Amino acid sequence: MENGSEDGIVVVGSGGHAKVVIELLRAMGETVSHCIGGVNDAPHCLGVPVLAGDHHLALLRIKGFRRAIVAVGSNQARQRLADLVAQAGYELVNAISPRAMISPTATLGQGIAIMAGAILNADCRIEDLAIINTGASIDHDCVIRRAAHVAPQCALAGNVTVGEGSFLGVGCKVIPGIHIGDNTTIGAGGVVVRDLPGGVIAVGVPTRVIKTRSHQAYETVQARHAVETQQTAAPTNHRG
Ligand SMILES: CC(C)(COP(=O)(O)OP(=O)(O)OC[C@H]1O[C@@H](n2cnc3c(N)ncnc32)[C@H](O)[C@@H]1OP(=O)(O)O)[C@@H](O)C(=O)NCCC(=O)NCCS
Repeated sequence: MENGSEDGIVVVGSGGHAKVVIELLRAMGETVSHCIGGVNDAPHCLGVPVLAGDHHLALLRIKGFRRAIVAVGSNQARQRLADLVAQAGYELVNAISPRAMISPTATLGQGIAIMAGAILNADCRIEDLAIINTGASIDHDCVIRRAAHVAPQCALAGNVTVGEGSFLGVGCKVIPGIHIGDNTTIGAGGVVVRDLPGGVIAVGVPTRVIKTRSHQAYETVQARHAVETQQTAAPTNHRG
């Protein structure tokens, strides 16, 4: 239908996370019309036709499709693709399981995914493009910032902040009041008992930082310490 209004939702992504999002949307009574994938992706995702290439976003918009959601697991890719979706003039929709328990005082952004069994408690805030995965529990007054991802079975106590683009691996626990910076990753099973800065990877019980982001890549904390030790050792070596 040229220049008309098509009701189906366009899902950007066609991998495992897209499958979950498609089923969430169907459980909400929605119809998914197309997925947008890559050239090497399968032609269908849970029976939904997959169009290869981001240029299809604009073409589908011309055909009258007006609602979309970005369903890729990478936080950085999700943010980039959401910008394309907005530029193409789509409304970003939410995929929220009817089997999630969401407080009436929770604040929800756009383009978010809340999986089955997730619990969102009083006055928490889930910002745009965030994912609260299966069975994760977000307690009162938590803030999950833009495009962050809280993986299955995580438990966040009250007043925790998870920074923009950050990722908490499966089964993490966070004690009350903790602040986790932007673009930080917590490994699966980690227990966070101290604030963590942005741009680090931390693992373990309690978590310790093992890598830190320098420019695009992460370098190991061990390697950085080795360089720092050499630098401080160098003047000593040249003394007397
Ligand atoms: C932390 C993580 C992101 C890996 O990061 P990475 O930079 O690739 O780290 P590496 O695999 O190089 O491991 C570095 C060290 O950390 C350890 N490590 C990695 N993940 C760990 C974890 N979750 N807990 C404890 N230690 C961990 C490794 O054993 C390794 O230790 P070593 O140097 O003594 O051998 C990954 O292991 C992880 O936990 N991902 C979570 C995945 C997940 O939950 N997905 C859910 C999708 S919905």
